[in-house]
Amino acid sequence: MKHRVLFTPEEIHRQVQRLAASIDDTNVDYYLVLTVLKGAAIFSSDLVRAMHTDAELDYIRARSYMHEFVPGDTLTIDPDPELDVRGRDVLIVEDIIDTGRTLEQLHSAITQQQPRSLHTVTLVNKTERRETAYEPSYFGFSITDEFIYGYGLDWNQRYRNLPYIAIANP
Ligand code: IMP
Ligand code: MG
Repeated sequence: MKHRVLFTPEEIHRQVQRLAASIDDTNVDYYLVLTVLKGAAIFSSDLVRAMHTDAELDYIRARSYMHEFVPGDTLTIDPDPELDVRGRDVLIVEDIIDTGRTLEQLHSAITQQQPRSLHTVTLVNKTERRETAYEPSYFGFSITDEFIYGYGLDWNQRYRNLPYIAIANP
């Protein structure tokens, strides 16, 4: 697919450093970092290494079944019986927020398990298509309504391993 570079590896690196500094700048001394697979895996692995705060790393899978069993889309969060967030300082790491449904539903699912604190970080904030009032605690880049891929983000499961973030060329 023809594309152009929207954010270079250097620009991404700078945002990751800035986000890590903001996340360090809280009263938390031991995070439970919950990375939303698959998209946030690459961002998260850079982010946690840029942070100075100690962190336990865990992973959650959020999938939306679009046009499948139900009209509209339903988010399925794979339950992890090992995951115990009660009393923990949780940081959810996502690749991108778009409608806001994924993070809103994750936020309420985790909140029900009574963490001590809950923050969310997304590398990209896609602002024009929000369907909820949800805003992440921290975000890196802001875009309007473009479809982007690379650095973990996919286009039909492809291009996740690009070292930059790209935008499709019409
Ligand atoms: P939301 O629930 O609408 O906020 O959607 C968030 C999810 O949609 C992300 O975790 C991505 O998997 C996917 N997504 C939204 N926009 C893009 C994009 O531009 N490129 C790749 N994936 C996207
Ligand atoms: Mg995702």
